[in-house]
Amino acid sequence: MKTNATDVSLSLILAADDMGVIGYRGKIPWLGKVPADMGRFVDITNKAGFIIMGRKTWEAFTNSLPGRVNIVVTRNRDYRDPGCIVVHSPQEAVHTVRMQGGTSAVVIGGRELAEAMLGMPEMKTVHLTRIHTVSCPRARREHLTFMPKFNNWEPVRTRRFPASRRNKHPYTFITLKRIV
Ligand SMILES: NC(=O)c1ccc[n+]([C@@H]2O[C@H](COP(=O)([O-])OP(=O)(O)OC[C@H]3O[C@@H](n4cnc5c(N)ncnc54)[C@H](OP(=O)(O)O)[C@@H]3O)[C@@H](O)[C@H]2O)c1
Repeated sequence: MKTNATDVSLSLILAADDMGVIGYRGKIPWLGKVPADMGRFVDITNKAGFIIMGRKTWEAFTNSLPGRVNIVVTRNRDYRDPGCIVVHSPQEAVHTVRMQGGTSAVVIGGRELAEAMLGMPEMKTVHLTRIHTVSCPRARREHLTFMPKFNNWEPVRTRRFPASRRNKHPYTFITLKRIV
């Protein structure tokens, strides 16, 4: 499949706790406790209009995310789901965005897909939220999913916020760009 690195730009959005945990037993452990992070997620993904996710992240949702084209990456050629567009590689995901006239898409995880797409030339920005808590202190390691390593990426904007009545943990919004 032919791809042109200049016409679709990708970003990655992830949230991780102080241990780098992004998931516990297939779910996000602090879900609902930091609505400001959900607000950031909604703003960034709505603006792009296209979201790309790994099959496991897709299956953690009960429905497709409304108002955005949901693209799910799986190696399983028999995978079918009426709520999303199924593709079989990161390159096919980008091609699908392009074919639908999109110019930007957000990769929303999980770790495996993030790692596969982080090195793509189309990947321009990482939107990372650090949730300042240790969300699963007693969890066994095999039940935890950790964020990828952002070697070759550097923070260009960092904003830290305290816990509040609405947001149960302090959190930091970080924007990273690739080191050239
Ligand atoms: N905190 C956050 O920001 C955040 C965001 C998203 C997810 N999460 C959490 O992260 C966990 C899931 O992450 P994960 O790393 O286990 O799974 P994932 O990346 O969501 O999904 C992995 C699956 O995606 C498909 N896939 C991945 N890379 C592929 C490639 N290069 N080509 C083709 N298919 C590919 C494969 O599907 P098949 O097995 O079907 O082939 C693979 O098994 C969950 O706990 C979730 O709640 C956290």
